[in-house]
Amino acid sequence: MRILLLTHAFNSLAQRLGAELQERSHEVSVEFDIADSVTEEAVALFRPALIVAPYLRRAIPESVWSRHVCLIVHPGIVGDRGPSALDWAIANQESEWGVTVLQAQAEMDAGPVWASVTFPMREAKKSSLYRHEVTQAAATAVLLAVQRFDSGTFMPQAQSGMAARGRSRPLMQQAQRRIDWAHDSSATVLGKIRAADGFPGVADTLFGQPCHLFDVWPEARLRGQPGDVIARRETALLRATVDGAVWIGHVKRQDSIKLPATLAFEPEAQAIAEVPLANCWRIEAPTWQDIAYEENGAVGTLHFEFYNGAMSTRQCERLRAALLWARQRPITVLLLLGGADFWSNGIHLNVIEAASLGQGSAADESWRNINAMNDLALELINTPAQITVAALGGNSGAGGCFLARACDQVWAREAVLVNPHYKNMGNLYGSEYWTYSLPRRVGLDAARAIMHNREPLTAARALAIGLIDACLGGSVPAFQAEVAQRAAALAAAPDLALQLANKRETRARDEAVKPLAAYREEELARMRRNFYGFDPSYHVARHHFVRKSPASWTPRHLARHRDLNWKPDA
Ligand code: COA
Repeated sequence: MRILLLTHAFNSLAQRLGAELQERSHEVSVEFDIADSVTEEAVALFRPALIVAPYLRRAIPESVWSRHVCLIVHPGIVGDRGPSALDWAIANQESEWGVTVLQAQAEMDAGPVWASVTFPMREAKKSSLYRHEVTQAAATAVLLAVQRFDSGTFMPQAQSGMAARGRSRPLMQQAQRRIDWAHDSSATVLGKIRAADGFPGVADTLFGQPCHLFDVWPEARLRGQPGDVIARRETALLRATVDGAVWIGHVKRQDSIKLPATLAFEPEAQAIAEVPLANCWRIEAPTWQDIAYEENGAVGTLHFEFYNGAMSTRQCERLRAALLWARQRPITVLLLLGGADFWSNGIHLNVIEAASLGQGSAADESWRNINAMNDLALELINTPAQITVAALGGNSGAGGCFLARACDQVWAREAVLVNPHYKNMGNLYGSEYWTYSLPRRVGLDAARAIMHNREPLTAARALAIGLIDACLGGSVPAFQAEVAQRAAALAAAPDLALQLANKRETRARDEAVKPLAAYREEELARMRRNFYGFDPSYHVARHHFVRKSPASWTPRHLARHRDLNWKPDA
């Protein structure tokens, strides 16, 4: 079937649906919801059998929904309506929530239902629920709805005729999210900030300045005067509540961008006492800890919970230090587990952008950041005494994919998407030794195609082309349990010593053919041009990415119907 994805942005949900539909042989093209006339033009060009809208911020024009079946993905249970569906579900402590696929009509979210899927709620931030439970339920519901549409016999059910628990709710206002530091418990503060993460955040003040709060973590031991900022650790600030304290990882100051809290308030944070972790990389009681190590027999595991998977220069340096430390442990398998929502999305574009807001230079910070990434990737490639495994429970993009590929093995959860390419960020060439690791895995032609086509890949597809080594099913906890089991089996393998010897031999042979330093130099020569050359595309793209500037056109590699060679009846 020819299916048009009409969406505000090509976010992870839209990417997942596009990939799943294509894998089922549907012909998919994408149009961003920019203006009614643009949507009408896209429909006229593509002549879709069906329109699917994974993520919209406004209504589809009547000229389109009255002539074509348009399936809207609503992140709420049947009967739920309104733009703050997940926010209310978290605030109201719903134990079960869902996704409904309904047909567009004049009244928003009121059309007949083609499919709905429910899921148990989890204590997590809104963006995490969206990337895991909502995305999974949406994929199931949309595939079911498409099948039903294709059958030609299914009649969608009017919401009025369904026994529905959901109801219409308004946009959640900042007044309803407001934190009362003199009365709210840590649990209440955690709930309020989680319900607003990653957008819009909770409007508040820090050091007397208005800002929005994001990325909140519990603290088990430290306490202070409610509302006071009582400690800092790396990028986070600790703020006391009536019954404890919570860590604030990220803030957005007025007219600025979302940044690590200690960077957004740099001089103020310097005056706050630093409270380092007592046991260095070892996992501690609930607190803010972005890098954590645990050991189980001969298997060591490194977790790195970097907000949005973005890795700043300092985070790369600290993760490298943790890696070097872990390599000295008596282990034979080293698992790199990344964070709960993302494994890694490469260099930290917001921190780089922040450099250009002050006295610094974004080009210099980009250069430092990519070199720190490369230093980390180099240590992964050159780990002689352990088998390294990148275990992707969450998505990974750009340099993050090639950081994972610097490990001996990459295992990904079935629901994960990878974007192993850089070009979307203003034609960035990329580094992280991708010119060494990618062709070695998939061959030169496929490597070129991956970089050129810029397609998101499902884990199954990544496995099929040889980019990753295993695709494992299940929820995040089930995936982690299976990863632990496989890692233990790997550590106990009778031929482990042989595997390690082969690895060292292959590395030495590759090094003799072409040293890693040569790959790095070639990649960085291109990156230097991206950062310091006369073409500002990377700086412009980063500026728009971190500020979330509305798109004014759909990238041509997504809008296939706008390709000059595209023929509707081909
Ligand atoms: N640096 C800083 N922030 C990043 C980031 C990065 N490298 N990658 C993602 N983010 C942020 C986004 O700005 C967004 O922030 P928000 O919390 O304010 O909404 C959040 O992470 C989620 O990103 P989003 O694009 O909504 O997630 P997605 O799952 O839909 O898409 C990617 C994932 C990887 C395709 C997309 O985020 C992307 O293109 N990232 C940039 C990758 C890149 O070019 N890195 C630099 C080169 S190595």
